[in-house]
Amino acid sequence: MSSMSPTPAEPSPSRTAAVIPAAGRGVRLGPGTPKALRALGGTPMLIHAVRAMAASRAVTLVVLVAPPDGAAEVKNLIDGHALPERTDYVVVPGGATRQESVRLGLDALPDDVSVVLVHDAARPLVPVDTVDAVIEAVRDGAPAVVPALPLADTVKEVEPAEPGVPEPVLSTPVRVRLRAVQTPQGFDRDTLVRAHESVAVDGEGATDDAGMVERLGAPVVVVPGHEEAFKVTRPLDLVLAEAVLARRRANDGF
Ligand code: C5P
Repeated sequence: MSSMSPTPAEPSPSRTAAVIPAAGRGVRLGPGTPKALRALGGTPMLIHAVRAMAASRAVTLVVLVAPPDGAAEVKNLIDGHALPERTDYVVVPGGATRQESVRLGLDALPDDVSVVLVHDAARPLVPVDTVDAVIEAVRDGAPAVVPALPLADTVKEVEPAEPGVPEPVLSTPVRVRLRAVQTPQGFDRDTLVRAHESVAVDGEGATDDAGMVERLGAPVVVVPGHEEAFKVTRPLDLVLAEAVLARRRANDGF
């Protein structure tokens, strides 16, 4: 009697999800509404960031990490704006630090997600080509991928001092070797989860997920970032973001 060999299980298709930490208060932008909920061109920054991720056809799920007491408000925002229908949207409450907020977002991912992007809500204007380039590099085998740009300014390492006191310079890193990193950062899901399990939240916590993966000893690579992927941090950044939106509208109109 011949025994039938079991049919090999279909490899489950690999899904890509984007986690958007948006739980910060954004104090450097001045007092008022949490930064991610502030309007740019009449639309909350968070919605721009969600659209930037959903613009990639590879992204089928966006997990939004809302301010801890603002999940209902963020759900309403998602329901109230037109977003691509091929993508699923989930809202979870965030934590006290960015690192905790990202971990809470990772906890909400379904099992079939194997590639994860982590994207700051504070980078609302990242172009889709940058998002796709990050995803492609992860799918090609890199466990962690960071979009980044060379620096215009020379950077000095200093001994921080009280405000008003001149700070002694310790060193000047060679500028040509430096990169300013942006988001979305892309990860093999298991690698990023391992990094979050092994790096304890220390003080303000990690400000960069790729840095946590570096601490695991896993390789991290850089792909070209984009000047429009800048982070809206200070009031002047809002002016620049409005100008970028106005330029896009003008270009779309012709
Ligand atoms: O403060 P910073 O600009 O570095 O924040 C980067 C991103 O992390 C922002 O999108 C912010 O909303 C998010 N964040 C968070 N939870 C915190 C602090 C920051 O999701 N507790």
